[in-house]
Amino acid sequence: MAILITGGCGYIGSHTCIEMLAAGYDIVVIDNFYNSKPEALNRVKELSGKDFPFYECDIRDEEGLRKVFSENKIDAVIHFAGLKAVGESVEKPLEYYDNNVYGTLVMYRVMKEFGCKRIVFSSSATVYGGVNPSPLKEDMPTGAVTNPYGRTKYVLEEILKDFCVSDPAFSAVLLRYFNPVGAHESGRIGEDPNGIPNNLMPFLLQVAIGKREKLSVFGNDYDTHDGTGVRDYIHVVDLARGHVKAVEYAMKNVGAQPINLGTGVGYSVLDIVKAFEKVNGVPVPYVIAPRRAGDIATCFSDPAKAAELLGWKAELTLEDMCRDSWRWQSGNPQGYDS
Ligand code: NAD
Ligand code: WQD
Repeated sequence: MAILITGGCGYIGSHTCIEMLAAGYDIVVIDNFYNSKPEALNRVKELSGKDFPFYECDIRDEEGLRKVFSENKIDAVIHFAGLKAVGESVEKPLEYYDNNVYGTLVMYRVMKEFGCKRIVFSSSATVYGGVNPSPLKEDMPTGAVTNPYGRTKYVLEEILKDFCVSDPAFSAVLLRYFNPVGAHESGRIGEDPNGIPNNLMPFLLQVAIGKREKLSVFGNDYDTHDGTGVRDYIHVVDLARGHVKAVEYAMKNVGAQPINLGTGVGYSVLDIVKAFEKVNGVPVPYVIAPRRAGDIATCFSDPAKAAELLGWKAELTLEDMCRDSWRWQSGNPQGYDS
């Protein structure tokens, strides 16, 4: 029995490989290195002390996927592979629909051909759009998304639900991640963004290490405790452990199940800056800048469904997130090229 991990060299994928191996699963990894480096795999092998098959393969390559499925007995797929930059998706919608939506259809076709009926899918809190109040619950309406990236996640959730209806033996666990941050406690794997980071923590890390002069805090006039945007930051190792539980759950006949992976706690941008400075003793110069288009004031999860169905809850603290992010950044100032 093996679990196929698509996009397993990426940020969340590499941490999930470690947790899946630690839980005793055999894994097979595919990635096209569009947004990752082979060195991440070397480090996963070093940290886990285990080897596993890897294929450099695009999820849109049907023949390539057939080779993977015919050479390995795949019981379930954890599907991370996809493009994830919100701003880029507005400029390049075709690439996003092609990679994320078409790619998943190709993969489903091959899964079907080989009788593989379990998928754990990387969805996102972005499917809730800006219309629902936090805490966000899985039964709230979805689809009021504001960019092509978010639309790929919403559409794929709907498509996977249709597949479950058409085949009652097919299970799809739709994991809605909130804001993943942090890194493995070894400091050997972490997020290695290309170019100028869009997300808060990678940008903050580049300021802390001196690569960038200051952080722009996007707006301090939101209706939140200090005026800056509030999000549900979750340690990537907690998130990875959620996938181990989700795979176990997907093995039962569960149909399509959207499940939040968050902590249930919201922190503001300034909470993050202050916690980071305190935990690491490193200053993070910042300026207040205008609001960023498309941002909402507050977004955090109700994590009760994950506790009930998966027996999972986030355990690592904001201090852990700040400390582990900095250990990765300071030990690998050039990411995997360090
Ligand atoms: P990432 O970019 O680090 O990892 C994605 C991996 O998929 C990369 O290694 C990339 O090379 C690979 N990939 C992309 N297209 C591929 C293709 N066509 N064929 C094969 N491999 C391909 O991103 P991540 O942060 O680890 O995110 C993983 C998943 O979780 C993505 O689907 C993302 O949309 C979703 N997600 C991420 C966040 C976040 O903030 N990081 C939040 C919610 C959801
Ligand atoms: C967090 C907070 C910003 C950068 C995005 C995607 C979402 C999901 C996770 C994939 C906000 C503020 C940020 C900066 C700042 N990804 N900020 N200065 O926007 O909550 O979610 O990533 O599914 O779909 O939209 O995350 O990290 O960009 O922002 O002040 O330089 O930090 O305004 O309040 P976001 P983020």
